[in-house]
Amino acid sequence: MELFDAMRTTFSAREFTADALPDATLVKILDNARFAPSGGNRQGWNVIVVRDKKTREALAELTKPAAKRYTAQIQLKENPFNTVVPTRADAATIAETEPMFRLIEPVLKAAVVLVICVDLRVVASTDHELSRIGVISGASIYPFAWNILLAARSEGFGGTITTLACSQEPKIQSLLGIPSHVAVAAVMPLGKPVKQLSKLRRKPVAEFAVRERWGGTPLA
Ligand SMILES: Cc1cc2nc3c(=O)[nH]c(=O)nc-3n(C[C@H](O)[C@H](O)[C@H](O)COP(=O)(O)O)c2cc1C
Repeated sequence: MELFDAMRTTFSAREFTADALPDATLVKILDNARFAPSGGNRQGWNVIVVRDKKTREALAELTKPAAKRYTAQIQLKENPFNTVVPTRADAATIAETEPMFRLIEPVLKAAVVLVICVDLRVVASTDHELSRIGVISGASIYPFAWNILLAARSEGFGGTITTLACSQEPKIQSLLGIPSHVAVAAVMPLGKPVKQLSKLRRKPVAEFAVRERWGGTPLA
């Protein structure tokens, strides 16, 4: 596939056909994804390939608490899980919110589910002494996750980086025997998408790139 085509059409697939995703294809996908960058090239990623129905059901259950909150915040027109602007959704509202189906179903229906982990003993977190929420640590794992989706796209498959279940990380660690120094970065359903989207909704360059300093003239 042409690189720019792949970048512009790798969408979040959440609906899948009944086609299998064989281990051989998965190995090919991961064999290409592993060329992702990571801080200091430490490559702290680990991937658990889940096909077992009971494990997927458990992962779906662990997605629900955050999916309820996500849905409640969307209904309030908030940016879910944002740490700068506090939510107006109280615990009771969240508890009674029916989570959006599309947030839960993919792990049950995809050909395979990848649990993407990162070994925190090798991750460089250069912002850990700042008073804001950490962002740098994720940069040692999400380029790898994104590479998996690009490689899957190239092989005619697709999936989504999902993180809602990660709010229940200790339970996922106990479910899958993951040690406590290894973070669960994403739960990624993968399979053959029911349809291939080609026009993704993204802001134009002039809306996010400026010259020289914050608020500078748009790069267009
Ligand atoms: C860090 C991150 C976390 C995400 N978490 C979830 C998630 O928990 N569940 C989900 O369905 N999609 C999740 N997504 C997918 C986003 O919703 C998706 O990338 C975005 O809506 C763009 O979708 P599109 O590529 O199909 O246009 C996540 C994406 C990223 C990058």
